Amino acid sequence: MSKEMILIVDDEENIRRTIRAILEDEGYAVREADSGSKAFTQLQDGQVDLVITDVWMEDIDGLKLIDFINNSGIDVEIIVISGHATIEVAVQATKKGAIDFLEKPLSFEKLLLSISNALKHRKLKIGNRWLLEQASREVQLIGTSPAYQKLVHDIELAAPSEGRVLIYGENGSGKEMVARSLHMKSLRADMPMVDINCAAIPDELIESELFGHVKGSFTGAHETRKGKFVVANGGTLFLDEIGDMSLRTQAKVLRVLQENAVTPVGGTRSISADVRIIAATNKNLAQAIEDGSFRQDLYYRLNVIELHVPPLRERIEDIPPLANHFIQQFADERKVPPKTLVPKAMDMLKMYNWPGNVRELQNLMERLMIMVRENTVTVQDIPYPINRSGDNDDSHHPLRLKEAREAFELNHMMKVIRMSGNNMSKAAELLGIERSYLYRKLKQYGIEPETIRQNKR
Ligand SMILES: Nc1ncnc2c1ncn2[C@@H]1O[C@H](COP(=O)(O)OP(=O)(O)OP(=O)(O)O)[C@@H](O)[C@H]1O
Ligand SMILES: [Mg+2]
Repeated sequence: MSKEMILIVDDEENIRRTIRAILEDEGYAVREADSGSKAFTQLQDGQVDLVITDVWMEDIDGLKLIDFINNSGIDVEIIVISGHATIEVAVQATKKGAIDFLEKPLSFEKLLLSISNALKHRKLKIGNRWLLEQASREVQLIGTSPAYQKLVHDIELAAPSEGRVLIYGENGSGKEMVARSLHMKSLRADMPMVDINCAAIPDELIESELFGHVKGSFTGAHETRKGKFVVANGGTLFLDEIGDMSLRTQAKVLRVLQENAVTPVGGTRSISADVRIIAATNKNLAQAIEDGSFRQDLYYRLNVIELHVPPLRERIEDIPPLANHFIQQFADERKVPPKTLVPKAMDMLKMYNWPGNVRELQNLMERLMIMVRENTVTVQDIPYPINRSGDNDDSHHPLRLKEAREAFELNHMMKVIRMSGNNMSKAAELLGIERSYLYRKLKQYGIEPETIRQNKR
């Protein structure tokens, strides 16, 4: 384990020297700075665990230094020492986040105890953060439709096996999420999942990406580099868009899968790697094999377990929970209140055919969260071409007169409400109806008048 690094900030050289000697005796790594600004520079590389700072200094004093640290997001513990300690300064320092305050002349016993407490605190904090990150990496697969539940069930079965998995699915249907979920539920979850998008990397580079290369093996290979197969050792390698891999690379990948070892480009010795392969494609590989653009032997190697992610239009029940999930996700991230779709707007989403699948739905929800001012999203807010699905644009689903009237009525009421700055009494007056009637009407369309009223301008 590397030594913990402590930065001593004091304009008196004597003090720095004495503290340094003690800390080095205790096995800490030590840095010094004789001013707040130099201390701040010393912190930039993120190597420091703990700052011990004096208060009174020229240029930037100890308290200002704490402000600088807080604003920059540098993560260190801070102990403040001072010879002219007033309670007020001590309180201020702790409020700003210093973990302890010690008076000069220093009792070195107290100082060491304070340091050891601060570093213990830091370890716990970092440990907790890691746990939180782990927890948030748990992939949450939303979808209650029978088709999606079948997939979730198959993932549960496939994940703990070591079997190679081939994931089929249209663009944006959630293949990568399935791969991530397989990894997180597998025995390799503590090790990395490394992914490579075979379609995004030019053919000349893909071998070096996958297998690594030795220095000087080709123009531009300035450093020896580990391939993704080696980086993923002990974990999972996700080969995304496998259908776009050239035949040449396919042959090499096949060899790696047969031998469980890779030879870096320009290298002579092979390196063994214990890697579970998950591959994904939106292409029909059976067709590609027939066309001669995909190797059949590689296909059989990859395709031990085959999973299909159904397109969104084949699992309409999943649209509302997914839409709400994305709204909530956006709201949490940006710290804004979530919006609600009126039932008719949700129906519109259900009628659309979603060529871009879940990703397209996610993008739409983001757009609505940004562009719609009110807390409710109505049919008028749904953009083209989604608003054209199932309405009067073609012969198979013309609106019934009643539906057309309702659509107009809601549209018009909302327009007038917006015009009157969400003032419901004023809107009712303009519409020539009773306020209570307007409330009833809105409720009938699934709109909560209270939420509109709260946004009165
Ligand atoms: N079941 C689900 N629950 C929650 N979010 C999902 C679900 N399925 C997909 N998503 C989200 O939809 C987006 C698209 O998913 P993903 O990237 O996994 O799709 P893909 O099939 O790999 O897409 P592409 O074909 O573009 O590579 C992502 O932001 C993902 O988080
Ligand atoms: Mg993908």
